[in-house]
Amino acid sequence: MKLVYYKYAFGIIHLYKIILILLLKKYTVHLEEVILQLNKLHTISSKLDLQQSERLAMFKIVADYSNKFINELPNVKGFSTKEPQLLAIDNTPKELKNILHLYQTEVAETGINAASGTHMGYIPGGGVYTAALADFLAAITNPFASVYYASPGAATIENEVINWLKKVFSFPENTVGNLTSGGSVSTLIAFTAARDKHQIKNDLIKKSVVYLSEQVHHSTQKALRIVGLEDIIIRYVPLNEYHRMKADALEQIMKEDVAKGLNPFLIVATAGTTDTGAIDPLQEIAVIAKKYTAWFHIDAAYGGFFILTSKKEMFNGIEEADSIIIDPHKSMFLPYGLGAVLIKDKAAALYSNQYTANYMQDAVMDELVQNPSNVSPELTKHFRGLRMWLPLQFHGVEPFVACLEEKLLLVKYFRLKLQALGFCIGPEPDLSISYFWYPFTVDANEKNKQLMQAIHDDGSVFLSSSVINKQFVIRIAILAFRTKKETVDKALAMIERCLQKVQ
Ligand SMILES: Cc1ncc(COP(=O)(O)O)c(C=O)c1O
Repeated sequence: MKLVYYKYAFGIIHLYKIILILLLKKYTVHLEEVILQLNKLHTISSKLDLQQSERLAMFKIVADYSNKFINELPNVKGFSTKEPQLLAIDNTPKELKNILHLYQTEVAETGINAASGTHMGYIPGGGVYTAALADFLAAITNPFASVYYASPGAATIENEVINWLKKVFSFPENTVGNLTSGGSVSTLIAFTAARDKHQIKNDLIKKSVVYLSEQVHHSTQKALRIVGLEDIIIRYVPLNEYHRMKADALEQIMKEDVAKGLNPFLIVATAGTTDTGAIDPLQEIAVIAKKYTAWFHIDAAYGGFFILTSKKEMFNGIEEADSIIIDPHKSMFLPYGLGAVLIKDKAAALYSNQYTANYMQDAVMDELVQNPSNVSPELTKHFRGLRMWLPLQFHGVEPFVACLEEKLLLVKYFRLKLQALGFCIGPEPDLSISYFWYPFTVDANEKNKQLMQAIHDDGSVFLSSSVINKQFVIRIAILAFRTKKETVDKALAMIERCLQKVQ
């Protein structure tokens, strides 16, 4: 009986041994297969991580391309109507030189040449070289700039740029801010804070009023809609002959609204309007905003950095705002994709944006605003601070200010020359944007439209148009850092040429 029992036990152990060997074998085979597969994939996936010699060669190609691009800027057209071709992705690897050739012909040579000084339409862009180098470094090192814990250095640079802006605009130290992709997103963040501070929701939306200049940038109305305030009442405040908001008219409208039982919620002033470069009377508006406990927001997206110039006094009162937006990709000549917002009420700024989650538990900070993500809808974002911090460290602020002063003088020069050519010009602008039209004796609007078309067809300098006081006008927006006296002369020669064609 015992023997049978032992035999039975040995049999089971043997069976287990066999199963174990089979399992191990299977596992070993599986492991070997995985290693084999990994080796195969490694050969292909490592192509993304270039060797030093390849990196150097590619860097040289890109450096040569950029140098050629920059050197040729004074001679290339400001605008081209050419349609881009051949940009579809066909999953076939190509030579970098060929890709850059495609980029040059189908991207760089189409539309507005925004890196050139000949861009004098809309709001010109910039693209200083040192900011491009900063972007390159930001992409190579790729720090997670939105969360202090993830990259204390990168988050500190983001915050230092905000601190510098607070000093420039005389905002208190405890102001919070964020580096955004541009003016539109900055406005969204500011309006969200304003909405949350004043708890504008449900029935209160339809009773609340926003006061805007007729010259306000359209990103303002767009932001109101996006933050859920589509049904709010909008009042357009009349402007004076310099296209600045009339403070007395604003106060009168607000008074009437209060009498009607409405809630004066938000005043949006502009420090540098898009069409005419006008600065609203900020000091007077600040007093009215306080009187009616309305949130005072200033759109200084275009004009902001002119506060560093001889125009400083025109910005008096900006420090009284509850929130301001400024675009370093406009009046600091940085590449597109850098805006900033400053908000005095920290709690309001954090209310909608600050969230946490289990997977973020390591990153919780005592000082919430040290995490840029707490003042923005964005979590992961491009490390934008570096493209402003590095140029400021490298150049100092002086060349930026000189460049802005130069733009103010260039618009004066442009206007004087236009007058000498027989053009009518808009009122003396507060900043570097103005407008003109030719006093054709018949069909003046239609003829000026034709002149604009002729200018676009010519394309040597890019100008854009607008309608001001129901009149078709051609704008001059001088803001590109590469716009010099020679560029303005080129524009004048083009205008004269085009005028002859339509006369
Ligand atoms: C005065 C003003 N505010 C806001 C904006 C919107 O800025 P962004 O295009 O960077 O979103 C612009 C754009 O030109 C502007 O001129």
